[in-house]
Amino acid sequence: MTTTATRSDAGRSRAAIAAKTLRTDRWWLPPLITFVGLSAWVIYATVRVFMHKWFFVEQYHYLTPFYSPCLTDRCIDGSAMFGTPLPNFWLIPEAALTLPFLLLFRMTCYYYRKAYYRAFWLSPPACAVPDAHEKYTGETRFPLVFQNLHRYAFYAAGIISVINTWDAVVAFRSGDEFGFGLGNVILVVNVVMLWAYTLSCHSCRHIAGGRLKHFSKHPVRYRFWTFVSKLNARHMMLAWVTLGTLALTDFYIMALAAGWWPDLRFIN
Ligand code: FES
Repeated sequence: MTTTATRSDAGRSRAAIAAKTLRTDRWWLPPLITFVGLSAWVIYATVRVFMHKWFFVEQYHYLTPFYSPCLTDRCIDGSAMFGTPLPNFWLIPEAALTLPFLLLFRMTCYYYRKAYYRAFWLSPPACAVPDAHEKYTGETRFPLVFQNLHRYAFYAAGIISVINTWDAVVAFRSGDEFGFGLGNVILVVNVVMLWAYTLSCHSCRHIAGGRLKHFSKHPVRYRFWTFVSKLNARHMMLAWVTLGTLALTDFYIMALAAGWWPDLRFIN
Protein backbone atom coordinates (compact mmCIF):
# COMPACT_ATOMS: atom_id res chain seq x y z
CA MET A 1 0.00 0.00 0.00
CA THR A 2 1.41 3.42 -0.92
CA THR A 3 -0.42 5.97 1.16
CA THR A 4 1.37 9.24 0.53
CA ALA A 5 -0.87 11.98 1.84
CA THR A 6 -4.44 12.96 2.35
CA ARG A 7 -6.54 15.14 0.13
CA SER A 8 -9.57 17.15 0.92
CA ASP A 9 -12.76 16.13 -0.78
CA ALA A 10 -15.92 18.14 -0.17
CA GLY A 11 -14.70 19.16 3.23
CA ARG A 12 -13.71 15.65 4.30
CA SER A 13 -10.23 14.26 4.11
CA ARG A 14 -9.58 10.89 2.64
CA ALA A 15 -6.48 8.84 2.07
CA ALA A 16 -4.70 9.66 -1.18
CA ILE A 17 -3.40 6.42 -2.60
CA ALA A 18 -0.96 6.40 -5.49
CA ALA A 19 -2.09 3.00 -6.76
CA LYS A 20 -5.26 3.10 -8.87
CA THR A 21 -6.84 0.52 -6.67
CA LEU A 22 -5.67 -1.92 -4.05
CA ARG A 23 -8.06 -4.57 -5.25
CA THR A 24 -6.31 -7.60 -6.73
CA ASP A 25 -9.41 -9.59 -7.70
CA ARG A 26 -11.08 -9.39 -11.12
CA TRP A 27 -13.25 -6.41 -10.15
CA TRP A 28 -13.47 -5.37 -13.81
CA LEU A 29 -15.31 -8.53 -14.84
CA PRO A 30 -18.88 -7.67 -13.64
CA PRO A 31 -18.89 -4.19 -15.28
CA LEU A 32 -17.43 -5.71 -18.45
CA ILE A 33 -20.16 -8.38 -18.58
CA THR A 34 -22.77 -5.69 -17.96
CA PHE A 35 -21.30 -3.53 -20.71
CA VAL A 36 -21.32 -6.35 -23.25
CA GLY A 37 -24.79 -7.62 -22.25
CA LEU A 38 -26.53 -4.25 -22.26
CA SER A 39 -24.79 -3.11 -25.47
CA ALA A 40 -25.78 -6.31 -27.28
CA TRP A 41 -29.39 -5.95 -26.16
CA VAL A 42 -29.64 -2.28 -27.12
CA ILE A 43 -28.16 -2.98 -30.59
CA TYR A 44 -30.56 -5.89 -31.15
CA ALA A 45 -33.60 -3.89 -29.96
CA THR A 46 -32.70 -0.84 -32.06
CA VAL A 47 -32.26 -2.92 -35.21
CA ARG A 48 -35.54 -4.70 -34.63
CA VAL A 49 -37.55 -1.59 -33.80
CA PHE A 50 -36.47 0.10 -37.05
CA MET A 51 -36.73 -3.04 -39.18
CA HIS A 52 -40.47 -2.45 -39.62
CA LYS A 53 -41.20 -6.02 -40.66
CA TRP A 54 -41.65 -9.55 -39.31
CA PHE A 55 -43.46 -8.38 -36.18
CA PHE A 56 -46.83 -10.13 -36.50
CA VAL A 57 -47.92 -13.68 -37.28
CA GLU A 58 -51.39 -13.21 -38.69
CA GLN A 59 -52.45 -16.86 -38.53
CA TYR A 60 -51.85 -17.12 -34.76
CA HIS A 61 -52.18 -13.45 -33.77
CA TYR A 62 -48.68 -13.33 -32.34
CA LEU A 63 -47.47 -9.74 -31.98
CA THR A 64 -43.94 -9.04 -30.76
CA PRO A 65 -43.79 -6.82 -27.63
CA PHE A 66 -41.36 -4.51 -29.47
CA TYR A 67 -44.23 -3.45 -31.76
CA SER A 68 -47.08 -3.31 -29.27
CA PRO A 69 -49.41 -1.53 -29.52
CA CYS A 70 -48.94 -1.30 -33.27
CA LEU A 71 -49.90 2.21 -34.40
CA THR A 72 -48.52 2.97 -37.87
CA ASP A 73 -49.91 2.45 -41.36
CA ARG A 74 -47.61 -0.57 -41.71
CA CYS A 75 -49.53 -2.52 -39.05
CA ILE A 76 -51.21 -5.57 -40.51
CA ASP A 77 -54.91 -6.23 -39.94
CA GLY A 78 -55.40 -7.72 -36.49
CA SER A 79 -52.19 -6.29 -35.05
CA ALA A 80 -53.47 -2.75 -34.49
CA MET A 81 -55.57 -2.81 -31.35
CA PHE A 82 -55.90 1.01 -31.25
CA GLY A 83 -56.04 1.72 -34.98
CA THR A 84 -53.21 3.15 -37.09
CA PRO A 85 -53.04 6.89 -36.37
CA LEU A 86 -49.30 7.23 -37.17
CA PRO A 87 -47.83 7.63 -40.68
CA ASN A 88 -45.55 5.17 -42.44
CA PHE A 89 -42.23 6.92 -41.90
CA TRP A 90 -39.11 4.84 -41.16
CA LEU A 91 -38.12 6.95 -38.13
CA ILE A 92 -41.45 6.28 -36.42
CA PRO A 93 -41.50 2.91 -34.64
CA GLU A 94 -44.72 0.92 -34.71
CA ALA A 95 -44.89 1.21 -30.89
CA ALA A 96 -44.00 4.91 -30.88
CA LEU A 97 -46.42 5.61 -28.05
CA THR A 98 -45.08 3.09 -25.56
CA LEU A 99 -41.37 2.72 -26.37
CA PRO A 100 -40.35 6.11 -24.88
CA PHE A 101 -42.04 5.21 -21.59
CA LEU A 102 -40.47 1.77 -21.51
CA LEU A 103 -37.09 3.32 -22.22
CA LEU A 104 -37.66 5.85 -19.43
CA PHE A 105 -38.75 3.07 -17.07
CA ARG A 106 -35.63 0.98 -17.68
CA MET A 107 -33.21 3.91 -17.87
CA THR A 108 -34.38 5.29 -14.52
CA CYS A 109 -34.65 1.87 -12.83
CA TYR A 110 -32.56 1.77 -9.65
CA TYR A 111 -30.79 -1.40 -10.76
CA TYR A 112 -30.04 -0.29 -14.32
CA ARG A 113 -28.75 3.02 -12.99
CA LYS A 114 -26.22 1.15 -10.91
CA ALA A 115 -25.41 -1.08 -13.88
CA TYR A 116 -24.76 1.64 -16.43
CA TYR A 117 -23.13 4.07 -14.03
CA ARG A 118 -20.60 1.33 -13.35
CA ALA A 119 -20.25 -0.29 -16.76
CA PHE A 120 -20.56 2.71 -19.10
CA TRP A 121 -19.81 5.79 -17.02
CA LEU A 122 -17.25 4.13 -14.70
CA SER A 123 -18.62 6.15 -11.86
CA PRO A 124 -17.25 4.21 -10.08
CA PRO A 125 -16.64 0.93 -11.98
CA ALA A 126 -16.56 -1.08 -8.73
CA CYS A 127 -16.29 -0.72 -4.97
CA ALA A 128 -12.90 0.62 -3.86
CA VAL A 129 -11.98 1.53 -7.44
CA PRO A 130 -11.69 5.24 -8.19
CA ASP A 131 -14.29 7.11 -10.16
CA ALA A 132 -13.20 7.83 -13.73
CA HIS A 133 -14.50 11.36 -13.31
CA GLU A 134 -13.12 14.17 -11.23
CA LYS A 135 -16.44 15.60 -10.17
CA TYR A 136 -19.42 13.90 -8.61
CA THR A 137 -22.69 15.78 -8.51
CA GLY A 138 -24.97 12.83 -7.96
CA GLU A 139 -28.51 12.99 -9.24
CA THR A 140 -29.30 16.45 -7.96
CA ARG A 141 -28.68 18.39 -11.19
CA PHE A 142 -29.64 18.33 -14.85
CA PRO A 143 -29.78 15.86 -16.55
CA LEU A 144 -29.64 13.18 -13.85
CA VAL A 145 -32.22 14.95 -11.72
CA PHE A 146 -34.74 13.44 -14.17
CA GLN A 147 -33.97 10.02 -12.69
CA ASN A 148 -36.60 11.04 -10.16
CA LEU A 149 -39.26 10.53 -12.81
CA HIS A 150 -38.98 6.81 -12.18
CA ARG A 151 -42.18 6.55 -10.18
CA TYR A 152 -44.21 8.06 -13.04
CA ALA A 153 -42.53 5.76 -15.53
CA PHE A 154 -43.60 2.90 -13.28
CA TYR A 155 -47.27 3.85 -13.69
CA ALA A 156 -46.81 3.91 -17.48
CA ALA A 157 -45.03 0.54 -17.39
CA GLY A 158 -48.00 -0.91 -15.48
CA ILE A 159 -50.36 0.16 -18.28
CA ILE A 160 -48.00 -1.25 -20.92
CA SER A 161 -47.85 -4.55 -19.04
CA VAL A 162 -51.66 -4.70 -19.26
CA ILE A 163 -51.40 -4.22 -23.05
CA ASN A 164 -48.75 -6.97 -23.27
CA THR A 165 -51.01 -9.23 -21.23
CA TRP A 166 -53.87 -8.61 -23.65
CA ASP A 167 -51.56 -9.44 -26.57
CA ALA A 168 -50.72 -12.75 -24.91
CA VAL A 169 -54.41 -13.54 -24.29
CA VAL A 170 -55.62 -12.79 -27.83
CA ALA A 171 -52.80 -14.94 -29.21
CA PHE A 172 -54.65 -18.07 -28.12
CA ARG A 173 -56.23 -18.24 -31.55
CA SER A 174 -55.64 -20.05 -34.76
CA GLY A 175 -57.69 -18.26 -37.38
CA ASP A 176 -61.00 -17.77 -35.57
CA GLU A 177 -60.68 -20.84 -33.35
CA PHE A 178 -58.89 -21.56 -30.13
CA GLY A 179 -55.25 -22.45 -30.73
CA PHE A 180 -52.18 -23.13 -28.65
CA GLY A 181 -48.56 -23.42 -29.67
CA LEU A 182 -45.01 -22.82 -28.52
CA GLY A 183 -45.45 -19.14 -29.39
CA ASN A 184 -48.17 -18.90 -26.72
CA VAL A 185 -45.88 -20.44 -24.12
CA ILE A 186 -43.16 -17.91 -24.99
CA LEU A 187 -45.58 -14.96 -24.95
CA VAL A 188 -47.08 -15.99 -21.60
CA VAL A 189 -43.70 -16.61 -19.94
CA ASN A 190 -42.55 -13.21 -21.18
CA VAL A 191 -45.61 -11.44 -19.81
CA VAL A 192 -45.35 -13.17 -16.42
CA MET A 193 -41.70 -12.14 -16.20
CA LEU A 194 -42.59 -8.57 -17.23
CA TRP A 195 -45.15 -8.39 -14.44
CA ALA A 196 -42.66 -9.83 -11.96
CA TYR A 197 -40.06 -7.23 -12.97
CA THR A 198 -42.57 -4.36 -12.93
CA LEU A 199 -44.00 -5.31 -9.52
CA SER A 200 -40.53 -5.84 -8.08
CA CYS A 201 -39.76 -2.15 -8.76
CA HIS A 202 -38.57 -0.18 -5.74
CA SER A 203 -41.19 2.50 -6.48
CA CYS A 204 -43.90 -0.16 -6.44
CA ARG A 205 -42.66 -1.36 -3.06
CA HIS A 206 -42.84 2.16 -1.72
CA ILE A 207 -46.30 2.71 -3.17
CA ALA A 208 -47.43 -0.55 -1.55
CA GLY A 209 -46.06 -0.01 1.94
CA GLY A 210 -44.36 3.35 2.14
CA ARG A 211 -45.36 6.00 4.69
CA LEU A 212 -47.43 3.55 6.72
CA LYS A 213 -46.97 3.84 10.45
CA HIS A 214 -48.99 0.78 11.39
CA PHE A 215 -49.04 -2.19 9.07
CA SER A 216 -51.65 -3.80 11.32
CA LYS A 217 -54.15 -1.11 10.27
CA HIS A 218 -53.57 -1.80 6.56
CA PRO A 219 -53.59 -5.60 6.20
CA VAL A 220 -54.16 -5.60 2.42
CA ARG A 221 -51.34 -3.18 1.76
CA TYR A 222 -49.13 -5.13 4.18
CA ARG A 223 -49.76 -8.38 2.29
CA PHE A 224 -49.09 -6.73 -1.03
CA TRP A 225 -45.94 -5.07 0.36
CA THR A 226 -44.75 -8.47 1.66
CA PHE A 227 -45.31 -10.01 -1.78
CA VAL A 228 -43.61 -7.11 -3.58
CA SER A 229 -40.69 -7.22 -1.13
CA LYS A 230 -40.00 -10.84 -2.02
CA LEU A 231 -39.93 -9.94 -5.71
CA ASN A 232 -37.91 -6.82 -4.97
CA ALA A 233 -35.11 -8.95 -3.53
CA ARG A 234 -34.77 -10.46 -7.03
CA HIS A 235 -35.04 -7.21 -8.94
CA MET A 236 -31.61 -7.42 -10.55
CA MET A 237 -32.22 -10.97 -11.71
CA LEU A 238 -35.64 -10.02 -13.10
CA ALA A 239 -34.11 -7.02 -14.89
CA TRP A 240 -31.84 -9.40 -16.82
CA VAL A 241 -34.38 -12.19 -17.24
CA THR A 242 -36.86 -9.79 -18.86
CA LEU A 243 -34.23 -8.54 -21.29
CA GLY A 244 -33.77 -12.18 -22.25
CA THR A 245 -37.48 -13.04 -22.52
CA LEU A 246 -38.21 -9.87 -24.51
CA ALA A 247 -35.45 -10.61 -27.02
CA LEU A 248 -36.39 -14.30 -27.22
CA THR A 249 -40.09 -13.53 -27.74
CA ASP A 250 -39.29 -11.00 -30.42
CA PHE A 251 -36.82 -13.31 -32.15
CA TYR A 252 -39.23 -16.26 -32.17
CA ILE A 253 -42.04 -14.16 -33.65
CA MET A 254 -39.65 -12.68 -36.20
CA ALA A 255 -38.59 -16.19 -37.22
CA LEU A 256 -42.22 -17.32 -37.66
CA ALA A 257 -43.21 -14.15 -39.53
CA ALA A 258 -40.20 -14.46 -41.83
CA GLY A 259 -40.98 -18.12 -42.49
CA TRP A 260 -37.66 -19.42 -41.10
CA TRP A 261 -39.51 -22.21 -39.30
CA PRO A 262 -43.16 -23.05 -38.39
CA ASP A 263 -44.69 -22.69 -34.94
CA LEU A 264 -44.79 -25.86 -32.88
CA ARG A 265 -48.56 -26.35 -32.41
CA PHE A 266 -50.13 -28.35 -29.57
CA ILE A 267 -53.76 -27.53 -30.43
CA ASN A 268 -54.87 -26.38 -33.89
FE1 FES B 1 -36.07 -1.02 -11.25
FE2 FES B 1 -38.25 0.47 -10.56
S1 FES B 1 -36.41 0.20 -9.51
S2 FES B 1 -37.96 -0.84 -12.27
